[in-house]
Amino acid sequence: MTTLPPGFWAVVPAAGAGKRMGSPIPKQYLEIAGKPVLQHTLERLLSVERIAGVVVALSPGDDYWPGLAVSADPRIRTAPGGSERADSVLSALDVLAGQARADDWVLVHDAARPCLTASDLNHLMDTLARHPVGGILAVPVSDTLKRVESRAIVATVDRSLIWRALTPQMFRLAALRQALVRAREQGLVVTDEASALELQGACPGIVEGRPDNIKITRPEDIALATFYLEQQ
Ligand code: CTP
Ligand code: MG
Repeated sequence: MTTLPPGFWAVVPAAGAGKRMGSPIPKQYLEIAGKPVLQHTLERLLSVERIAGVVVALSPGDDYWPGLAVSADPRIRTAPGGSERADSVLSALDVLAGQARADDWVLVHDAARPCLTASDLNHLMDTLARHPVGGILAVPVSDTLKRVESRAIVATVDRSLIWRALTPQMFRLAALRQALVRAREQGLVVTDEASALELQGACPGIVEGRPDNIKITRPEDIALATFYLEQQ
C-alpha cells in the first residue's frame, strides 16, 4: 500500500468589515489595478497548481461575492464567516474537513493581501513540507525598536529577535483546527494561526517572505498595493 503525500489547500478569511479602511464597500471588494482585491488574492492562490482547493469565508450578508469572476471557479468553496477572524478561519476549516485529510497542509491567507507572489507561496510550501509543525511567511524588521513606557524610551529591543508575521500561515488541518478550538475554549482571541499553535506549545517555522506582501488596512495602503501589483 502506498500512502499519498499530504495535499495542500488554502483558506481565505474574507468576512471582515474593514473598519479601519472606513469605505462604504468592504476593502476586499475595492477595485485596485483593474480588479477587486479579493479577485487578485484568489487568482494568486489558484495560480499554484498543487493547491487542490480554496475555501473562502464570507460575511453572511455579502452581496458582492457572486459578482466576482473567480466565484465560479470549481476549485473554490465558501463558508460562513464569524465575528472574529479566527471564527471565520474555523468555519472554513469545517468545510475543508469534508474534503481534505487530517494531515493535509492548509495555507491560511488574508483576503486583504493581494500582492502575494507565486514564488513566495512556493517557497513557503517547499521549505515547510517536511516540518513537524508548519509555519509562516514573515519579514525581519528594519527599524530600530524601542520599548516605551509613558512616552519615554526604557530600552532598545534586539532587532534580530523580532519578525513581522505575514500570511500565508501553513499548518496541518487537524492540528490547526484543534489549536483554534482550544484558543476559543480558553476565551483567547488569536489574530493569526501561529498564535493558536504557540498556545499549544508548538514552535512554528519562519520563512522569509517579500515585504511587498502587505495587508491593506488603511486608506493609504491602497496606493501602495496598487503600485506593488503594477510593479510585479
Ligand atoms: N476577517 C474575517 N472575519 C472576521 C474579521 C476579519 O474573515 N470576522 C478577515 C478580513 O476580511 C481580512 C483578514 O481577516 O481579509 C484580516 O483582517 P483585517 O485586516 O483586520 O480586516 P478587517 O477585520 O476587515 O478590518 P478591520 O480590523 O479594520 O475592521
Ligand atoms: Mg480586523
